Amino acid sequence: MSDAYHVPVLLPASVAALQIMPDGIYADATFGGGGHSRAILAQLGEQGRLFGFDQDSDAQANAPQDPRFRLIAHNFSHIKQYLRLYGIKQLDGIIADLGVSSHQFDTPERGFSIRYDQQPLDMRMNQQDDNAPTAADILNTYNEAQLVSIFQEYGELPASKRLAHAIVNARRGGKLRNVGDLKHLAAQLCRKRSKGEYLAQLFQALRIAVNAEMDALKKLLGT
Ligand SMILES: C[S@@+](CC[C@H](N)C(=O)[O-])C[C@H]1O[C@@H](n2cnc3c(N)ncnc32)[C@H](O)[C@@H]1O
Repeated sequence: MSDAYHVPVLLPASVAALQIMPDGIYADATFGGGGHSRAILAQLGEQGRLFGFDQDSDAQANAPQDPRFRLIAHNFSHIKQYLRLYGIKQLDGIIADLGVSSHQFDTPERGFSIRYDQQPLDMRMNQQDDNAPTAADILNTYNEAQLVSIFQEYGELPASKRLAHAIVNARRGGKLRNVGDLKHLAAQLCRKRSKGEYLAQLFQALRIAVNAEMDALKKLLGT
């Protein structure tokens, strides 16, 4: 695995907080490039075990070949059920490094980044899930009130109502398809100076909605 996939922040502090026991059983709920997992494995003894979860199939290429490690390519909201399949009823610690990886941001066709224009408004972490809405699905089908609530709750976005109204108006003339379509609309509602910040908040809000990130976290915390 190269550092290009993702360089985790606060790596030593977050792994230290797990207070790893060499024979313990741990889960890395957001495996990604495997930075946290490798640091945990370095502290585990021969009997220790680590289960990694990631719903993005791209992460599978980073799985270490280590008999103590197992990558489960699914959403962590079902962690309890998957761990049961391996006879695990209790963990000694779990780490979740929430959000998206640098790899996801840096892959233009995933649609997560405001740096590109022609790419589709996708933003799904799990591209195998054909039932999950893309960002374009949300922008083209949700009603104005639903859009406002996403922008306010997940992005604390100024002018949320005006943006939702502009989106609903614009899509009467044709669907929003590409990152550039959304950027063009949103740019009209913010000051030039704060455009980057505004777009980042907007894309964060949409990404959280597309991936139902709050629901997944609630399920994980309730497990
Ligand atoms: C910030 S990155 C984690 C990076 C990782 N700690 C590392 O060291 O490379 C978040 C990762 O978690 C995954 N992810 C986010 N939410 C998830 C969920 N609900 N279930 C499974 N994977 C999830 C994303 O696909 C992404 O690869």
